[in-house]
Amino acid sequence: MLGIGVTATDTEIGKTVVSGALAAAMRHRGYKTGVYKPAASGCVKNSDGKLISTDAEFLLHCAGLNVEKHDQVVPYVLEAALAPAEASRLAGVKIDPCVMLAGAREMLLGSQISIVEGVGGISAPLTDEYLVKDFFGELKLPLVIVVKAVLGNVNHAVLTAEYARIHGLKVVGLIVNGWDRKKAGALEQSNLYYYEKLTGLPILGKLPVLSQHLLDEFNSRELAEITEANIDIDRILSLAGGTVK
Ligand SMILES: Nc1ncnc2c1ncn2[C@@H]1O[C@H](COP(=O)(O)OP(=O)(O)OP(=O)(O)O)[C@@H](O)[C@H]1O
Ligand SMILES: [Mg+2]
Repeated sequence: MLGIGVTATDTEIGKTVVSGALAAAMRHRGYKTGVYKPAASGCVKNSDGKLISTDAEFLLHCAGLNVEKHDQVVPYVLEAALAPAEASRLAGVKIDPCVMLAGAREMLLGSQISIVEGVGGISAPLTDEYLVKDFFGELKLPLVIVVKAVLGNVNHAVLTAEYARIHGLKVVGLIVNGWDRKKAGALEQSNLYYYEKLTGLPILGKLPVLSQHLLDEFNSRELAEITEANIDIDRILSLAGGTVK
């Protein structure tokens, strides 16, 4: 019944990888783990001509769910690599927030803990009138913000955290993605300092750069081990929440 929402300072920051890492850790702790994404853009057709979300596929594997659950993990699959509001317009699909919410609630209800990945950044339009923050707000899910220790990202982290607060969302912490301890210099170290100082949020973990092999093989046990060593899963479990009525 518990859930954590995963947003980020931008698209391509690592929401899917971090969500999968969290799901793998939960799964290998023995929790019945759910994963969800309200809509996916940039989907590709499989040999049957069905649009498949690679994000949903990765999440499914990490959580140990059958690939047949694809459509329960992501209700809207869109071909254009654009925000769902625009990609759906191009496809002639009408996105209904109630459908996205109902799917999320079903996943939450059927699992002990669910990881819900957002789309793009926190204000990305799912429809013209319904943004990612509206989706997370209605689900009442505590959020983590995935950040990346590159120049300019502190600013994006502060704006994302403030925007979430203004809109009544509960952000519980930050997860730094792609952390390279050996290469971390003044820029990266100062990012860590200013993330916490300027957002007032704790860093809950730093996921290292993962090998392409690990990502391609969907080795959820190894991913879970790396996650446990680098992200405070006990704390994330204690911060998970949400109402699912
Ligand atoms: N820790 C990591 N180690 C290695 N590669 C990573 C890591 N995190 C992300 N990547 C790679 O960076 C790219 C973007 O990551 P990801 O798909 O998780 O971003 P996203 O925020 O979910 O993007 P979107 O907004 O499209 O959903 C992917 O190719 C992914 O494999
Ligand atoms: Mg993603």
